[in-house]
Amino acid sequence: MISPDTIDKIMDATRIEEVVGEFVNLKKRGVNLLGLCPFHNEKTPSFNVSAAKGIYKCFGCGKGGNAVNFLMEHEHFTYPEALRFLAGKYSIEIDEAKPSPEWQQAQNEKESLFNLSAFAQKYFQEQLHDSAEGRAVGLTYLKERGFSMEVIRRFGLGYCPEKWDSFSQTALKSGYKKEYLVKASLSKTKDHLLYDTFRGRIVFPIHNLSGRVLGFGARILGSEKNRPKYINSAESEIYHKSKALYGIYFAKSAMAREDNCYLVEGYTDVLSLQQAGVNNVISTSGTALSTGQIKLIRRYTANVTLLFDADPAGIKAAFRGIDQVLEEGLNVRIVSFPEGEDPDSYARKKRPAEVRALIGENATDFITFKTRLLLGEVNNDPIKKSGLIREISRTIALIPEPITRSLYVRQCSEMMQVDEKLLVAEVNKLRRQQFNARSRQGPHSADDLPPPSAEAPARQANEGQQNNDSQEKELIRLLLQYGGHAIHFEVENEDKRMEEVGMKVAEFVVGDIRADQLLFDNRACQLIFDLFAGALEQKSLPGIKPLTGHPDEEVRQLVIDLLSSPYSLSKNWESRHRIYVADEEESLKPPVIQAVYAFKLKKLEKMILENQKQIREASASDDPDSEPLQQLMETNRELTAKRSLFANALNRVVTR
Ligand code: GTP
Ligand code: MN
Repeated sequence: MISPDTIDKIMDATRIEEVVGEFVNLKKRGVNLLGLCPFHNEKTPSFNVSAAKGIYKCFGCGKGGNAVNFLMEHEHFTYPEALRFLAGKYSIEIDEAKPSPEWQQAQNEKESLFNLSAFAQKYFQEQLHDSAEGRAVGLTYLKERGFSMEVIRRFGLGYCPEKWDSFSQTALKSGYKKEYLVKASLSKTKDHLLYDTFRGRIVFPIHNLSGRVLGFGARILGSEKNRPKYINSAESEIYHKSKALYGIYFAKSAMAREDNCYLVEGYTDVLSLQQAGVNNVISTSGTALSTGQIKLIRRYTANVTLLFDADPAGIKAAFRGIDQVLEEGLNVRIVSFPEGEDPDSYARKKRPAEVRALIGENATDFITFKTRLLLGEVNNDPIKKSGLIREISRTIALIPEPITRSLYVRQCSEMMQVDEKLLVAEVNKLRRQQFNARSRQGPHSADDLPPPSAEAPARQANEGQQNNDSQEKELIRLLLQYGGHAIHFEVENEDKRMEEVGMKVAEFVVGDIRADQLLFDNRACQLIFDLFAGALEQKSLPGIKPLTGHPDEEVRQLVIDLLSSPYSLSKNWESRHRIYVADEEESLKPPVIQAVYAFKLKKLEKMILENQKQIREASASDDPDSEPLQQLMETNRELTAKRSLFANALNRVVTR
């Protein structure tokens, strides 16, 4: 836990242009910096960095935020990871807030396991490269399998000597506790004696997202019949199999860049593909794919390509993988390798370019994949065909997103030459069944499937309620950009003489809106407005950093968007904008008054609509002379009179 004081220090030291500049080539443009957006493909730069405001904003894809957000988005750091990165960059000592003893205990235990795993990885690696046994047995084996020294080193492969307890003894001598050696599955006990779990095996370290070792996989050399080919670390406090993916540390940036990842079955498949220049590859290491692993992938890309062996076990795993990936809302494609080949064995026989071509060009969607497998290329057996259609519909029904679902329904109807309406009905029926089955399973999460029949009306209702909040946002934009600027009004003083008084834009806006007790519909707008109101009560204004780094995602995004509207970020950037900005700053009064009137007018219109609805209801049920109806009519007259007053005033400001 990083203390709030340290966070402040980090944020104060951080220069957005230096942080972004590590990843993006930025050129000076007026007061801002400009570069090619790292979050989407573009040829002309639209990625803006404002050093003064400490924010970035892409006018192409809309992404924006402060330095911490940039690191979270670009490097896929968590919030504390981003802070630690910045603390390191600016040499700020992290002052850890004091956590509870239980938490500390758990942290210490985790930290011990991490340290031990790092120690073990180093030991195994040294054995592989520097010991006579490791070189003769381990390194020779890996080289015979065709792995390059570069890949062997990058993935930190190692070798655990044959001797009963060489690692365990070394670790104990270095001060690591027996308890942790066992917890990390590095050692086992027999008659109170420790021995090495992975002895005589090639060791594959498994890394987490930030490159720390969580556990190991270990392969025997050659092919002894009565020992398991691979053994893996058991679950521990740092190694949760359902949340780890082999190779993700080395694949994550390529996954984001290529917006796709290749999912394979084994350690060696990952290594061989990496060696062939395919960097976005990860593996489940023999276990079934889990929801947690799919969510991990989702942080980098929504596209998964499954690479599978065309044997029955591989096909079965592919079918299950397809359903799981689709169910989590990701897109799936499949490449099947010639029977008996896995990506590793294939890569050993072919040139890197051929491997990349196979997985690039042969990826099919799941409907084609299932059709080829279950129907064969030319088979018109109607019974087989209807079975296949049902199987495909079952998979389509798992897709949460209605548009994606309907696209697959169309594709299936075209490929199978069945009526699209029939397919829609089938898919909807299956969705209802899946939904009911889940409801019966007890408590379900919010992202469970809704009953399909409920979809259409819900959507319509939402659209009807959606209101245009541009007036609210414009008002907040003026507060954010010019809240501290002065505007002047002529007022009559006690001597009946006209006198000029100055007030801050924020004082005028907040005072005026509060006087009428008006509220914002947009939640983030209201929160920002409240921040201004609160600060003004202390005779100050909110600082820019707490706003651009606001913990509420919605507030932060709105602040960034408004601060980087073309009138501000592009200041001095394009001349036509420059003129506009200069104008806006020099004569702030009209736009501010205009924004306040427009806001009030919008509120009035809403009140009028509400009032008219009540009138309709009252006149439908009651007699026309009833008291409430008369009152409602009176309110209506007042509101409409006020509306024309405001509309005229607004008109005067705009046309002046
Ligand atoms: P190589 O024979 O070294 O190329 O391995 P492979 O990756 O081709 O192995 P295979 O396709 O047989 O298995 C795929 C993955 O399943 C492996 O990478 C391991 O993670 C896992 N696996 C294979 N054999 C065993 C085993 O005997 N025990 C356990 N626990 N996992 C295994
Ligand atoms: Mn293999």
